[in-house]
Amino acid sequence: MPIQDPHSFADTRQGRIRHIDFDLTVDFASRTLAGTGIYAFEAPVAGSLFLDTRDIHIERVFADDRDLDWSIDQEDRVKGRRLHIKNPDALSKISITFTTSPDATALGWLAPELTAGGKHPFLLSQCQAIHARSMIPCQDSPSVRFTYTARVKVAAPLTAAMSADRTKVEEQGEFNICYFDMPQAIPSYLFALAVGNLAFQKLGKRCGVFSEPEVLEEAAWEFAETERLIDEAEKLFGPYLWETFNMLILPPSFPYGGMENPRLAFLTPTLIVGDRSMVNVVAHELAHSWTGNLVTNATWEDFWLNEGWTVYAERRLLEVIEGEPYAQLHGAVRRDGMLEDMKVFGMEADATKLKFSQEGIDPDEVFSMVPYEKGCSFLSLIEEKVGRERFNGFIRKYIETFKFQSLTTDDFLSFLREEMPGIDEKVDIKTWVFGAGFPSDAPQPSSHLIDDVYARLNAYKSGTLPKKEDVAGWKAPQVEVFLKNLPQTIPAEDCAYFRDLFGLAESRNRNQLTEYYVVAIRSGYEPVLEEVERLLSTVGRMLYLKPLYRALSETAWSKKHARTLFEKYRGTYHPIAVGALERILTTSGV
Ligand code: BES
Ligand code: ZN
Repeated sequence: MPIQDPHSFADTRQGRIRHIDFDLTVDFASRTLAGTGIYAFEAPVAGSLFLDTRDIHIERVFADDRDLDWSIDQEDRVKGRRLHIKNPDALSKISITFTTSPDATALGWLAPELTAGGKHPFLLSQCQAIHARSMIPCQDSPSVRFTYTARVKVAAPLTAAMSADRTKVEEQGEFNICYFDMPQAIPSYLFALAVGNLAFQKLGKRCGVFSEPEVLEEAAWEFAETERLIDEAEKLFGPYLWETFNMLILPPSFPYGGMENPRLAFLTPTLIVGDRSMVNVVAHELAHSWTGNLVTNATWEDFWLNEGWTVYAERRLLEVIEGEPYAQLHGAVRRDGMLEDMKVFGMEADATKLKFSQEGIDPDEVFSMVPYEKGCSFLSLIEEKVGRERFNGFIRKYIETFKFQSLTTDDFLSFLREEMPGIDEKVDIKTWVFGAGFPSDAPQPSSHLIDDVYARLNAYKSGTLPKKEDVAGWKAPQVEVFLKNLPQTIPAEDCAYFRDLFGLAESRNRNQLTEYYVVAIRSGYEPVLEEVERLLSTVGRMLYLKPLYRALSETAWSKKHARTLFEKYRGTYHPIAVGALERILTTSGV
């Protein structure tokens, strides 16, 4: 049975893409990517072939220099436009010549001012969930995997990096030609390209970091422990099958914290805080090398399989590196974040379920921490019921069984029931997977680090402010938990006090800053606006932009600033972030 993917026009009965060979030119002046892809299929394709596209200009479709008939359908709001290739003969290769639109949703074209160096432009892609189709025509479903090779031409001194092995960089007059080879099959959402003034530093046997030269040294320090993470991850999940794990530090407008592009994880520069307190994001993207990139969700309705498993794996890694109390503390911060997301949707909303129909829904519209934390809690509950040792064996077998494959929620549940007979008596699977809200039998994060914070919060609520020495040894996430759990509004003098107490004026930790700004905005502490604007104008990570714009637009005094600031800085954000913020600003009626 072919998988029904509600987000793709692909019909795998017509054939499956197995390999694509690209010849592409990156042009910053026109903000386009243009060239040809040669598509090879698993078995010869006869009759029709449907590919996904969005805003791509198709120039020519041909096979062996012979033009093929094709047409492009009306735009579907979520899926984009179906490219229909009409193909009378059985063909095993088809070539498509195309040019992307300057508005391609996958592509962020950054002016030099938005980079660390300030002299050269930068291009970054973000294909997950369904943006690959705005960059390349493809079967844009995570149930289809292909290998690829690419030749990418960029203006010197810029170079390109991809989710692939960069085999060669050739100078050709004013251009650099970069060659790539991706020998492991990937789904389209892991196709990735970045172009900029890139430098590289090796960090370990299998890992290194790419970034603009201006941030390379700091980045190399922040992520120096990555090789150790890979070693530890292998002990838990099995061998690392992607050969190299490089990281690319992007300019600040990258809309996510990290993106698990294979061989080249994309990371926000906001992880560089000078104390390695954000390496959990690296652990998370690395963990996707097993859960997500090896074992892949079959459709975006099964997204919790990618993220729930990866958060679980991230926490296991944190436990090894930083100790159990710290990993539990992380669980507490992120759970609070998830519960907040659930409240925004409404506790009964579909988006609070792990699995629900997404027909007619853009995955970006329902992106939240629910599949992450509810997914992880579900897995942790199973672990609690069967014991860690047995669960460890289950993890290894799960990865080994499904590596380089995609699976649905039902596939997973069948596997779970086969491997863990009697699990239904211990865990209410139906409620957990298909029910709304957050079940009360979820394992509770617990650690003295969390207790410490709640002791201070309770004292504050009964009138005692924490003193410097009370919070002196606090770990970064403890400050987050504290700020997140303050009352909805607090007095202005306390806003000023906490800013000083936690040294927020000097802090580079935007997790903390965002939590603080949100309380300060809600509390009507107007002096904070200047700092909020500084964050909104320098960072494009949605984890920060969304709560800040939401707080601004939901509070009487700041309502008017929400739209104004957004209009002022929208040009500096990635198209995906612009879309998300438009939704926030419109639904709250600003
Ligand atoms: N794969 C996600 C990012 C993503 C999800 C992009 C859905 C587009 C659509 C990535 O692995 C991720 O989860 N990043 C988190 C990291 C955090 C949970 C540690 C982020 O960006 O904050
Ligand atoms: Zn993830």
